[in-house]
Order: sequence, then structure tokens, then C-alpha cells
Amino acid sequence: MALPSLHDRVVVVTGASRGLGAGMAERFRSLGMRVGVCARGASPLAGRSGVVAQRLDVRDEAAMQGFAAAVAAELGPIDLWVNNAGVLEPIAFLRDLSGEALMEHLAINVGGVLAGSKAFVGHLHRTGRGGVLVNVSSGAAQRGYAGWTAYCAGKAAVDRLSECVQLEEAEHGLRAYAVAPGVVDTAMQTTIRGMSEERFPAVEKFRELKRNEAFNSPAFVADRIAALAFDPEARPDSVVLRLPSEQG
Ligand SMILES: NC(=O)c1ccc[n+]([C@@H]2O[C@H](COP(=O)([O-])OP(=O)(O)OC[C@H]3O[C@@H](n4cnc5c(N)ncnc54)[C@H](OP(=O)(O)O)[C@@H]3O)[C@@H](O)[C@H]2O)c1
Repeated sequence: MALPSLHDRVVVVTGASRGLGAGMAERFRSLGMRVGVCARGASPLAGRSGVVAQRLDVRDEAAMQGFAAAVAAELGPIDLWVNNAGVLEPIAFLRDLSGEALMEHLAINVGGVLAGSKAFVGHLHRTGRGGVLVNVSSGAAQRGYAGWTAYCAGKAAVDRLSECVQLEEAEHGLRAYAVAPGVVDTAMQTTIRGMSEERFPAVEKFRELKRNEAFNSPAFVADRIAALAFDPEARPDSVVLRLPSEQG
């Protein structure tokens, strides 16, 4: 895929202390983009030129607003905002899931996406420019997995939230997507593979993926996101998208 020049572009990636977020941020920077990254932990890109890194919790709306302002002040107007931060736990059958644990999960996986989306939409309104919002979703938004009540419910909510903000903000130049990235071999996958079949009956499917190394790389996911944001020929019609397998 031939990407247009990305050298004058500014991208934000949340949840970029490790895993898919860190890998995507690294790839975006290597493509010449200026990059804003945040997570509770430190980003591997912190201290590099063309990078604004902040340690924050995506549940903190004020912190997210401040982060967006800092990125724009240091790097320029933001073209692409990727809400990647997310958690998998709690893994539990619904009968064992407390309402409190569910709400804690949703506060990150849905509330964090809300806070990031609001920060970006506010930025677009202030600058009068268009931009692309990508919320990292999952195949778990499309189907249920026993043991993943919280995760499936949260990712399904991310899909609908993305469709709503697209409808609300299209006239202000927003294009919004909910992107299921495929399976990426991160700490989250290590956790999944380590589960017992009692807690997570579908575990063998994920162990099989590891045996075959059948993963999408963060660079592949970043390239696909950059293409849907900046390549007019790769512009999808639907908001909810599932990336293909890198192996073809
Ligand atoms: N790996 C896969 O196969 C896969 C498949 C489909 C979808 N996804 C989605 O892809 C995204 C990244 O997953 P991953 O596999 O890279 O997981 P990961 O290795 O566990 O990384 C998660 C990232 O999210 C950040 N994060 C979590 N809670 C946060 C909070 N409250 N505030 C700020 N940052 C927070 C973490 O940073 P700190 O802990 O330092 O805050 C970390 O940087 C998630 O949304 C996940 O649901 C992953």
C-alpha cells in the first residue's frame, strides 16, 4: 500500500506505554509523523524529538483535555487521534462478576474512549479543522466469549459510540472509525493464553494462534490506520471495521 507523505501530520495514541499502542506510536514516528502519546506508565518514545509524552489515566477527562492542548501547542493541530488504551480484566463468568468490577472496566474501556474522543472533538471545534478518530475495538465487539462479559460489552459500546460521534460531528469534519485490529501478540495475549479453560473456555484458539505465530504486527495495524486516515483511495464507507490478517 502506498501511503501519501505523512511528514506534516500529527497523531495521538493513547495507551502507548507498551503493546499495540507503543508499537503503533513507534511506527507512526518512523513514518515521519509527530506523535503525542499517553498512558499511566512511561512511553518508550518519551524524550524523543517530535514526541509529546504524558503519564495520565484516560479516565481523567481534565487530564485528557490538557494532554490534547499540550500536543497541539508543541506539535501543531492534531490530524489523527487513536484511542487505544484498554484492559481485558476482569475475566469472569457473569454469575461471578460484580457490578463494581464491571463498572471499573467500563470506566477505562468506554469512559476512556469517551474522554479521548471528547478531547479530540473539542480540539477540532477550536481549530475549525477536520480530523480522523480511531477507536480501537475488537472482534469481541461482534460476538460473545464466555468469561469476557465486561470486555465484549465494553467493545460493543465502543463500536456504537463511534457511530454516534460520526453522525454528530461529520459536519465539523470528523471521520470516526471503530477498528478491530486482529490479534496482536502483546501482554494482553500472554494473559489470555495463561488462563484455564474453566475461566476462559475459548483459550485453546488463542494458544493455537501463538503456535502458528498468526498475529498482526503493530506496524501493520498502524499502516492500515494511517491509510484509512490519509489515503483517499483507502477510505472505508462504514464506521465499524475489522482489519484483515497480515498473513493474507
Ligand atoms: N492484543 C490483541 O490481540 C488485541 C486484539 C483486539 C483489540 N485489542 C485492543 O488493543 C488495545 C491495546 O491492547 P494491547 O494488547 O496492546 O494491551 P496491553 O499490552 O495490555 O496494553 C494496554 C495499554 O493500555 C494502557 N492503559 C490501560 N489502562 C489505562 C488507563 N486507565 N489509562 C491510560 N492508559 C491505560 C496501558 O498503559 P498503562 O498500564 O501504563 O496505563 C497500555 O499501554 C486495547 O484497547 C485492546 O482491547 C487488542
